Amino acid sequence: VFESVEKGPAIEVFALNRAFLDDTATKKANLAIGAYRTNEGKPWVFPVVRKTEIKIASDDTINHEYLPVLGNDAFTKAAVGLLLGENSAAIAEKRAIGIQTLSGTGALRIGAQFLRVILDRRVAYYSNPTWENHHKVFLDAGFETLRSYRYWDQEKRKIDFEGLLADLEAAPEGAVIILHACAHNPTGYDPTQEQWKQIADVMERKKLYPFLDSAYQGFASGDPGKDAWAVRYFVDRGFELFVAQSFAKNFGLYCERVGNLTVVQRNAASSEAVASQFTLLVRGMYSNPPAFGSRIVATILNTPELRKEWMECIETMSGRIIKMRKALFERLTELQTPGTWDHIVSQIGMFSYTGLNEKQVRVLIDEFHIYLLKSGRINMCGLNENNVDYVAQAIHTAVTK
Ligand code: LMR
Repeated sequence: VFESVEKGPAIEVFALNRAFLDDTATKKANLAIGAYRTNEGKPWVFPVVRKTEIKIASDDTINHEYLPVLGNDAFTKAAVGLLLGENSAAIAEKRAIGIQTLSGTGALRIGAQFLRVILDRRVAYYSNPTWENHHKVFLDAGFETLRSYRYWDQEKRKIDFEGLLADLEAAPEGAVIILHACAHNPTGYDPTQEQWKQIADVMERKKLYPFLDSAYQGFASGDPGKDAWAVRYFVDRGFELFVAQSFAKNFGLYCERVGNLTVVQRNAASSEAVASQFTLLVRGMYSNPPAFGSRIVATILNTPELRKEWMECIETMSGRIIKMRKALFERLTELQTPGTWDHIVSQIGMFSYTGLNEKQVRVLIDEFHIYLLKSGRINMCGLNENNVDYVAQAIHTAVTK
């Protein structure tokens, strides 16, 4: 039966992570996988998360009965509130609903499935470049035409905004446009507020459907409201849309697969039918979601003192990233490494799109045991005070070789 099965390609980010773990070199650095690391290079369980999980695990009133198909109500409400803002008109008017999902990827997949199966959408666009899984998620959900819109100008190391607008302008009516809500992965460059307005203008005129991917709310700037600006702007302008929310990075709950799909509609009247169709899709895919991670997030967001402690954690993370951006930039400037490096400090979020080419990336991996994606994307959190000199020197060598 299985003899005809061909081996599929490795998933780059996980293959690099494995290679890093297996690498026996004493000096090495993992700048590949998008996960936070402390200044000691270790994964971080937020103290508030640790405290909350212990409380949940020792609560005798909590059992392991099934969650409802669309998830834990306290969690989905908190997630929608965090995203749209507690005073959102869409929430007050009951036009916004939440569906608990298997992290952000699950939210993208169930949303794509709904658009394909229930609304018969067939065309989706993602930025060039984008998170490599966007393509696969939409393809597997049955989208027939997947195209990219211009986003990154490699030469100028900034957004190709004219190209972006032209590609949206040329998209067929009804196409689904995947947008990064903040901290664009992999480039680290977001549109300005003025540019978001122009994107919304084209999308409104051309009747394009916004599907925002929000994987870094709070993580990007340390302020969840600021990071949700684009989402809230689209909602305030009256768009109907989906937002995929991940709680992997902003709560450090990577493996717990905690996510939410926020659905904003024009009228509350469609909520019941929409929820019923999502119920059937989820039932057919995985029946109902896991509970533990959603209980942690719901408890923290719904308890003011815990929420405050969580805010301190996201500030710690975003603060450390900014510090590392400065440190790497300063080192490369001191070394007079050829090229411009200002983008490292002007980008936002977890990643920096360094501009290093594939040959330079190979030098970093093979000679210096520094792991990064072949696109030149590095995870800033993999840098710390102990390895930033080493990494800067290695980049300098790779660039001047
Ligand atoms: C990343 O971009 O490195 C992370 O979001 C991990 C992943 O699943 O790709």
